[in-house]
Amino acid sequence: MQTEILSPTPEHIAVAAAALRQGQLVAMPTETVYGLAGNGLDEQAVASIFAAKERPRFDPLILHLPAGVTLEELQGWLVDVSAFTPAARAWLGSLIDTFWPGPLTLVLPKCPIVPDLVSSGLPTVALRVPAHPVAQALLQAVQTPLAAPSANRFGRISPTSAQAVAAELGGRIPYILDGGACAVGLESTVLKLSPEGIPTLLRPGGIPLETLEAHLGLPIQLAPEQAPGVPEAPGRLSSHYAPGKPLWLLPTAFVQLQPGDWQQIQHLATGHSHLGILSFATDPQALLGHLSRHWPGVLFSVECLGSDPNAAARALFASLRRLDEGDATLLLAEPPPISTGLGYAMMDRLRRASSLWNPPLLWPS
Ligand code: TXA
Ligand code: MG
Repeated sequence: MQTEILSPTPEHIAVAAAALRQGQLVAMPTETVYGLAGNGLDEQAVASIFAAKERPRFDPLILHLPAGVTLEELQGWLVDVSAFTPAARAWLGSLIDTFWPGPLTLVLPKCPIVPDLVSSGLPTVALRVPAHPVAQALLQAVQTPLAAPSANRFGRISPTSAQAVAAELGGRIPYILDGGACAVGLESTVLKLSPEGIPTLLRPGGIPLETLEAHLGLPIQLAPEQAPGVPEAPGRLSSHYAPGKPLWLLPTAFVQLQPGDWQQIQHLATGHSHLGILSFATDPQALLGHLSRHWPGVLFSVECLGSDPNAAARALFASLRRLDEGDATLLLAEPPPISTGLGYAMMDRLRRASSLWNPPLLWPS
């Protein structure tokens, strides 16, 4: 199959919407990452999403909805919150009013119209209203909820540009709508709300956990880490978002490494003469000088994300992808300088991206 990258003109949106109505798949930009969209109420289309991504069927999808949708419209159609306490319903309404459109996904009890394949047999469904104008134009044109996981092959780095989608899924889908680089760069925050109004964080993401806690005025519990097999939120699988070559997550930034850490890392990296570096430093030249002084004779490809969490999140996946596609044979990532907000979400992604590879010595338990 030929994959066409389309500019988001009204004509192309109509072409994409027609393809979706016929059960085909379209990659669409959202403000978080690109999504692989299909008609979320058409079991065949949903099945082809799993096939194109090589995604195991235990990993449920998010349904994307048009801006302006209300809880009243959703109730009895896609979700059933009739068992929610009045307080839980009020919280839900206020989360919707405040954070939609935007990078917040809500997990709620589902109605029978939602195919079991979408929810992987769970009694709940994940819903989100994307803020990207192209995603919204497509949703308006197609007039059906769109199931859309991140448009990468399963377990790999999420795409934040049309070109990254083409690298992941080219030849497998007919169209990619090109909406430019994603503004947030990390997937949505996934929050489950129980009928009693107890919120659980299933995946940190574009809306900081602290923002949600401040809004609700109560602490949000973290979902336990899931064993592979029957995860409630497979974004929580220990390996995810992974490059194709080894990635190690360092215990601190390079400038804070102690002599013993340097020795250990250099010993473990013996045999690698070209390293890819993912850093939160602000000055690439200074970092390169520091690295060359401590590690002579080695070639470095450096990606500096900088210290601003919003800019770093926006660039994270694209930088990781560049390092993965480059000539380095081993990638080393610094931890984000801030452990709250988007720093927490970036740390989550880096832990999962490196989990197959981290030498145990770097993370003494
Ligand atoms: O920002 C995003 O959320 C992007 C864009 C394209 O919208 N989409 C995305 O989809 O990241 P995906 O499929 O890569 O991740 C969906 C996450 C998974 O971690 C999945 O386990 C969780 O949402 N999820 C979906 N339905 C669920 C459910 N019923 N219960 C618990 N978790 C669910
Ligand atoms: Mg994903």
